[in-house]
Amino acid sequence: MLVQRSNRTLLTGALFVAAGLLMNPRVGHAAERPPLRELAEQRGFRIGAAVAMPLLDDDQYRQTLSREFNLCVAENAFKMESLRPARDRFDFRQVDHLCAFAQTNRMKLRGHTLVWHQQMPWWLTHGQWTRDEALGIMKDHITTVMQHCKGKVYAWDVVNEAISDQGPNNPIRPDSFWTKVVGADYVEKAFEFARSADPEAILYYNDYSNEDMGSKSEAVFQLVKRLKAKGLVNAVGWQCHLDSGWKAGAAQARNAERLAKLGLDISITELDFRITLPATPKKLQTQAESYRSVMRFCLSQPNIKALVMWGFTDKSSWIPIFFKGAGAALIFDEQYQPKPAYEALSEELTKAK
Ligand code: XIL
Repeated sequence: MLVQRSNRTLLTGALFVAAGLLMNPRVGHAAERPPLRELAEQRGFRIGAAVAMPLLDDDQYRQTLSREFNLCVAENAFKMESLRPARDRFDFRQVDHLCAFAQTNRMKLRGHTLVWHQQMPWWLTHGQWTRDEALGIMKDHITTVMQHCKGKVYAWDVVNEAISDQGPNNPIRPDSFWTKVVGADYVEKAFEFARSADPEAILYYNDYSNEDMGSKSEAVFQLVKRLKAKGLVNAVGWQCHLDSGWKAGAAQARNAERLAKLGLDISITELDFRITLPATPKKLQTQAESYRSVMRFCLSQPNIKALVMWGFTDKSSWIPIFFKGAGAALIFDEQYQPKPAYEALSEELTKAK
């Protein structure tokens, strides 16, 4: 009787474990691995994630973020609409909160972003400005924000997404507020203001669809070449919001190498691999291979020192909101359990150099 009962208990226990593994085959395995940031630190590499400020009060969110990453960036809190409610007023509460969090947890902090044609304050886009007035506001913005964060933010996306998607020459976006009011030279002006505001900071030009060898990345290349000749830029950000299945390859290597020749670093700044929902185990495996390819690529390029994802848990991601029918783009699931993509990053970081 006793034997029978313990057999049944054993069987129930085994079934329970098996069910747990089936539902989440990676959990036990991942828990044995060192956090990503520890593996990255051993290689002098930075692994980062964008932070949704409202979730920083959630214990699990905060603990996972600080355990796994040695770099962070605000998903929205550093954007002009968030920190500049009026022409003469800055609201640094969220910025200061993130600076303190990064400092406490020994994480580098990126500043995203000083000048962009989106998420701009209403008072600015709906005002009537001369070129000089708009330049004055831009200068004031860049100077105040960079000086406020001096020593706390190590790198800035000075200008975000300035190049248009229209080939063959992909000019500076003609429909941007900044181009319309200032002119296409607003990009260079922004970098001049940033260089004077904090000469120590690493200055990035950041964009999407510029990681391959197409006409847009050519336009980015020409832009940063001009800026670099004047000593105004240090690095290029490749956002990399990509479809699951995409892999880094020869085009990315050529692009990275031509930027390296100019003396420019690269960071992957906003990586996510979106999946067409529902996410199946097979799709998650494909996604893991995409993440793996990017990590492998980064570690093979001497001028790439950071890989930053646009979030880390599927609980909070811009993808389901902006890409209909897509989601599950990050490396932890909605319950903060590591996905196969996490394992892939961990494995690549563990491999011998
Ligand atoms: C996105 C945020 O994730 C969203 O929360 C917000 O509503 C819109 O902006 N490229 C960028 C990021 O440079 O700033 C964008 O972030 C995603 C695309």
